Amino acid sequence: MRITVIGTGYLGAVHAACMADSGHEVLGVDVDPRKLAALSEGRPPFFEPGLPELLRRTVDAGSLRFTDSLQEAGEFGEVHFVCVGTPQQPGSYAADMKYVDAVVDGLAPHLRDGSLVVGKSTVPVGTAARLAGRIAELNPAVDAELAWNPEFLREGFAVQDTLRPDRLVVGVTSERADAMLREVYAPMLTAGCPYISTDLATAELVKVAANSFLATKISFVNAMAEVCDAAGGDVVTLADAIGHDTRIGRRFLSAGVGFGGGCLPKDIRAFMARAGELGVGEALSFLKAVDEVNMRRRQRTVDLARELVGGSFLGKNVAILGAAFKPDSDDVRDSPALNIAAAIQLQGGQVRVHDPEAIDNARAQFPTLDYALDIEKACERADLVLHLTEWTQYRELDAGRLLKVVREPVLIDGRNTLDMAAWRSAGWTVRALGRSQH
Ligand code: UDX
Repeated sequence: MRITVIGTGYLGAVHAACMADSGHEVLGVDVDPRKLAALSEGRPPFFEPGLPELLRRTVDAGSLRFTDSLQEAGEFGEVHFVCVGTPQQPGSYAADMKYVDAVVDGLAPHLRDGSLVVGKSTVPVGTAARLAGRIAELNPAVDAELAWNPEFLREGFAVQDTLRPDRLVVGVTSERADAMLREVYAPMLTAGCPYISTDLATAELVKVAANSFLATKISFVNAMAEVCDAAGGDVVTLADAIGHDTRIGRRFLSAGVGFGGGCLPKDIRAFMARAGELGVGEALSFLKAVDEVNMRRRQRTVDLARELVGGSFLGKNVAILGAAFKPDSDDVRDSPALNIAAAIQLQGGQVRVHDPEAIDNARAQFPTLDYALDIEKACERADLVLHLTEWTQYRELDAGRLLKVVREPVLIDGRNTLDMAAWRSAGWTVRALGRSQH
């Protein structure tokens, strides 16, 4: 099929390459000339494992190309995926719909008869119905439809999640739209991927419900970490033990500095805002607690760090391992690691941050922090080392060797993934959140 993917960020660039790889003819659309130039050469403008190879292959094969023209997109495509961002509005919990609205307004006049606009962005429930009305208003003559197809990809696994999703969810208003989406996703359906076809509102809600559930699971285990710290328990053993119950499951029960990124924090807030508008704010009041538990993790980490350096950061060197909001990503949006680094600097600490991939993005957001491309350089003369993003190379560190470069061998494992026993036997004092006795 002839497919356009509008918005080539983390979601759109991966979706475009995967659609081209699945046998479609794809046109990617963006307003950012730098992104377009990189993508046209087969280079992703961000770090995502597997994407460079996929992009190069599909661009070289001629099945994927890029443009900045919505008119060209409208004239070319049978199916148009809308993949632009819906960030949190300044000064409010609600999602900012200006990018989605601008795409629909720009595309509608150019749509061809029989085409389908498919929203993928995470939006407040009711948006799809509103946008369908907008298309009818802007181009009353055209026989075009709108559907919603939420995306569940995780950064770091985006290619695999798109090519082999664990489910496909589509919100449609006609059999024709459903048939077109089945054709788009034919390779996944042949491979046995579950396909859930529903109404527009349910499809929109599935996405925010899934993210709210994941955020709740993480904050649940982090709340248990708070209790463990007070009672002298061990949150990792607790998570392992409850995780054996298949009704609960161990995944997304890793306690630590909490969740960040471009999705979970803003999505639960936008969901609360929308529920309030719908008059059911009380139903989601627990998400406020989820958000609060999560934000307290950052504060608790800073407090523990201050305690470990003797009550004040003044004159202390602090090394931060990790800047990205999670490993295998260079995304620093709402990153707990960087927030903690900035808070320690604000309180007078000399902070040096290491990350294997996210230094450039981190520097753009927090230009006054000090950065190091080398782990040992970051830890040189440190009074405290904080492990805040669980990159594999941090698990492989030689604790004995690192001990020689620091001033004080004191470590906080903010992700509960390092081998505490090995670090201790190398001579380090190790602390972690929710593991007071360990
Ligand atoms: C998330 C959803 O998983 C995905 O389905 C949706 O499409 C977009 O939002 P992503 O933001 O890429 O994906 O990251 P995810 O792997 O879900 O992690 C989110 C945050 O939670 C990260 O900061 C991660 O470090 C943290 N996390 C995750 C925990 O603190 N503990 C856990 O047990 C799991």
